[in-house]
Amino acid sequence: RMPILEQCYNLMDFEAVARGVMKKTAWAYYSSGADDEITMRENHTAFHKIWFRPRILVDVEKVDFTTTMLGTKVDIPFYVTATALGKLGNPEGEVVLTRAAKKHNVVQMIPTLASCSFDEIMDAAEGDQVQWMQLYVNKDREITKKIVQHAEKRGCKGLFITVDAPQLGRREKDMRSKFTDTGSNVQAGSTTDNSQGAARAISTFIDPGLSWKDIPWFQSITKMPIILKGVQRVEDVIRAIESGVQGVVLSNHGGRQLDFARSGIEVLAEVMPVLRERGWENRIEIFVDGGVRRATDIIKALCLGAKGVGIGRPFLYAMSAYGQPGVDRAMQLLKDEMEMNMRLIGCSNVDQLNPTLVDTRGLNMH
Ligand code: FNR
Repeated sequence: RMPILEQCYNLMDFEAVARGVMKKTAWAYYSSGADDEITMRENHTAFHKIWFRPRILVDVEKVDFTTTMLGTKVDIPFYVTATALGKLGNPEGEVVLTRAAKKHNVVQMIPTLASCSFDEIMDAAEGDQVQWMQLYVNKDREITKKIVQHAEKRGCKGLFITVDAPQLGRREKDMRSKFTDTGSNVQAGSTTDNSQGAARAISTFIDPGLSWKDIPWFQSITKMPIILKGVQRVEDVIRAIESGVQGVVLSNHGGRQLDFARSGIEVLAEVMPVLRERGWENRIEIFVDGGVRRATDIIKALCLGAKGVGIGRPFLYAMSAYGQPGVDRAMQLLKDEMEMNMRLIGCSNVDQLNPTLVDTRGLNMH
């Protein structure tokens, strides 16, 4: 029998429940990683290589872990990252995540390949709720320009251009299941071949020719902050800064693209010392995603210099198993963990999180 929601005590519990109750195709699409899924597994285990050096005898009676990301004040330093095809897991789709994000005052990143239409998701936001947009760039730039300018007009506060997916990774679990669900925002330029799994069926419009040369064009068509999602090496972070973008997400797409890409948290540990050396650490906002499952993971990323982290699958699993109450609980669990662990590490606010609080000698650094 399915456990009641109150029996989920951490984000991994939702995954276990979802696996038992989700439709096979949906489970295959959400849970899969590329090739041998080594990167997908490493994403979470990389956090296990970082240990804390907590401070003692600091007054932590009051703990404040609010912060800002791209100028938006949030309750806790995570955002709901973009994940395609929300309706595979829940008939209402991405708006379930929108409502939970509102309740917990966090930002949702809207995927290009959402099941709900972009406007439906924007409309589901309430009051001054902030949303960002994830962009897959179409070979037909006129289509992309329309999408971007529409997003800006609707009030999106950040444009996250996905740069790690010139071709979709081979997610074999997903490829084995025949994808029949329609109802995603398939764009012109797609040849929908359903025999290759969900991901491939909906993504053939993506332009593999996208390059650094296109960045000024994006900057000319929008005033939204531009963030490159899927950066994996310090050289590219430097180039991003030189290109004048406002942020990067150190990410390997949840292990769904290049297998043997390093985890975002490990890349962060490589990036920050180089930026600090140049005095560039405040020139860009750095986010990390992939394998974030515990507040301790969030705290480690912030100690190393991230502004915030993205979380993907856990909210999909919570939404698939329990609907909005599931996502609410998952977010609340993270808040509860955050409060306790901030206290235990000896920090009463996020500005106090710094590299001396972590021991990264276990990471594969040279
Ligand atoms: C994704 N991700 C993703 N990223 C993106 O830029 N555009 C997209 O359409 C999708 N779609 C998508 C679907 C599913 C089912 C997953 C699991 C992931 C990647 C996502 O934004 C993020 O990088 C990872 O999900 C983070 O890893 P975790 O939190 O899922 O481990």
